[in-house]
Amino acid sequence: MKGVVLAGGLGTRLAPLTRVTNKHLLPVYNKPMIFYPIQTLVDAGITEIMIVTGGNNAGEFLRLIGNGEEFGLRHMNYTYQKKEGGIAEALALTKHFVGNDKVVVILGDNFVQGSIRQATEDFAKQPEGGKIFLKEVDHPQEFGVAVLDGDKVTEIIEKPETPPTNYAVIGIYMYDARVFDICDTLKPSGRGELEITDVNNDYIRRGVMTYEFIDGWWADCGSFEALLRSNNLVAREHGVDI
Ligand code: DAU
Repeated sequence: MKGVVLAGGLGTRLAPLTRVTNKHLLPVYNKPMIFYPIQTLVDAGITEIMIVTGGNNAGEFLRLIGNGEEFGLRHMNYTYQKKEGGIAEALALTKHFVGNDKVVVILGDNFVQGSIRQATEDFAKQPEGGKIFLKEVDHPQEFGVAVLDGDKVTEIIEKPETPPTNYAVIGIYMYDARVFDICDTLKPSGRGELEITDVNNDYIRRGVMTYEFIDGWWADCGSFEALLRSNNLVAREHGVDI
């Protein structure tokens, strides 16, 4: 199983914090943001990891993370996304790295309190397809939202104005190598991006997408409020009284 951390994009929603640095290098309590998703992959038993970055500060990732020694890794792989063409565009850049393996993809601004180790082991045994993770939230219109029918997910709608459920699709995705064929078929969305939700809906239509609800808290850093919340959640994990 390979691991991919997506840390491209320009983080314009967090300007001016992102004017001179990459969003994923901003602090979250006592570490740079990207340390957390890397640690989540390592804790899941994944040792072959690629970081996709972009923008003007890509070189800083190499200076910060090097070969991943701090995470107990022997090597870290990097690639560069030239534009902000979407999550699926960033993922497509890792095709040569993933090869015919399966892959766990994590957005560089997403944090989970719990472990995805068991889910990763379960997915390794899943014959084909993908796996997504859901969390019940108060403001689902800010996320991809899942529609469920019993143990099946029937559709994901990206940032719906009127969400059909409160189940947000979080930024951790597991795929078989077919994901790269799907990425090749995508067309840019209304916001001009190749959407990961379109990838997920392709797997759903073919009946090979499984889902799980994630234990513990989940946070992303897409807005100032979300960044502050992430800092507070992580600080509380360290026993800080906020
Ligand atoms: O946080 C979970 C949500 O992430 C999901 O619920 C949504 O379905 C999914 O589309 C995504 O929504 P956002 O609009 O919040 O994603 P954002 O554009 O903020 O990108 C999230 C991360 O993905 C970002 O921190 C780095 C990576 N990314 C994003 C883009 C647009 C790239 O690597 N390259 C890109 O071009």
